[in-house]
Amino acid sequence: MSQLESLYAQAARDVAAAGDLPALDGVRVQYLGKKGAIKALLKQTGKLPPEERPGWGQKVNALNKQVTDALEARKAELQHAAEQAALEAGWLDPTLPTAARTGALHPITKVLMEVVDHFHGLGFEVASGPEIEDAFHNFDALNIPDNHPARDVWDTFYLTTGEIPRTHTSSVQIRTMEQRQPPLRIIAPGKCFRNETIDATHLAAFNQCEGLYIDRDVTVGHLKATLEGLVERLMGYKVPTRFRPAFYPFVEPGLDLDIECIFCKGEGCSICKYGGWIEVIPCGMVHPNVLRSCGIDPEEFNGFAFGMGFDRMVMLRYGIDDLRRLYDGNLDLVRKL
Ligand code: DAH
Repeated sequence: MSQLESLYAQAARDVAAAGDLPALDGVRVQYLGKKGAIKALLKQTGKLPPEERPGWGQKVNALNKQVTDALEARKAELQHAAEQAALEAGWLDPTLPTAARTGALHPITKVLMEVVDHFHGLGFEVASGPEIEDAFHNFDALNIPDNHPARDVWDTFYLTTGEIPRTHTSSVQIRTMEQRQPPLRIIAPGKCFRNETIDATHLAAFNQCEGLYIDRDVTVGHLKATLEGLVERLMGYKVPTRFRPAFYPFVEPGLDLDIECIFCKGEGCSICKYGGWIEVIPCGMVHPNVLRSCGIDPEEFNGFAFGMGFDRMVMLRYGIDDLRRLYDGNLDLVRKL
């Protein structure tokens, strides 16, 4: 008996003294392993007189369990201590304010979403066409014949293949009318490319949003109401507007929609070049030749088109006076707007 009790006492001291998990495992092997102290006790059973064997066996088993329990309890203690130490070493305060800031949509994306939403409300669909065009869709079908001086106006880039990075989204008018019969109501936002000298209001790659409405008996009144509604929606208030005659080969009559300069409220400033007005949406009634080149009978159908300079609209909406600021990767600007 005293042999077993002193062995347990020794085991309990060894368990308590184990300072970490590897040391504790050493203790386990020492007592419970194949060549351990408890196995050795069991081996003694055979040498006892038969009547003492069962009692001895029970006591050794009980000792085995006590030592096992002591080891388990110590293991739990050591594991907890190890976790605490790891937590303290890599301590993190989840309540501290972080340096991470949330993302934001680019102002161009925001205005685009608003334009699409506005026109959806009027029953327009979003259409698209390729950014690399051919001369037919970019020029010829739009009533801009070869050698027509109007082609120069668009400062066209030409690829070595003869293709054209489209100079305007007006090509999507043609693509749409080739594929579908009127009545048609579409807008076509997209990138355009021109060989421009870059300055505060011109970029070589920029965004436009084309619009096209073809039906029976469409009037300039429809055009006017549609575009005035768009400007009011985008600017958030009823900005004074005016329509001026203008020339674009694919419309007749051609017009420019101006809004009163938002920077000087019509007084005249460097941004409106002292005229008090800013041109925002070129537009007009679709030229019969354009309808014809898409196989639509101009005696039956007519309509209006417009091609809004998208980036310009974004500048005016947010009061930004230099177009380049929209593209210089300045996140503060994006977040602020
Ligand atoms: N495509 C013209 C440009 O880029 C803009 C334009 C003018 C589009 C009149 C139209 C329009 O649809 O009717 O300068």
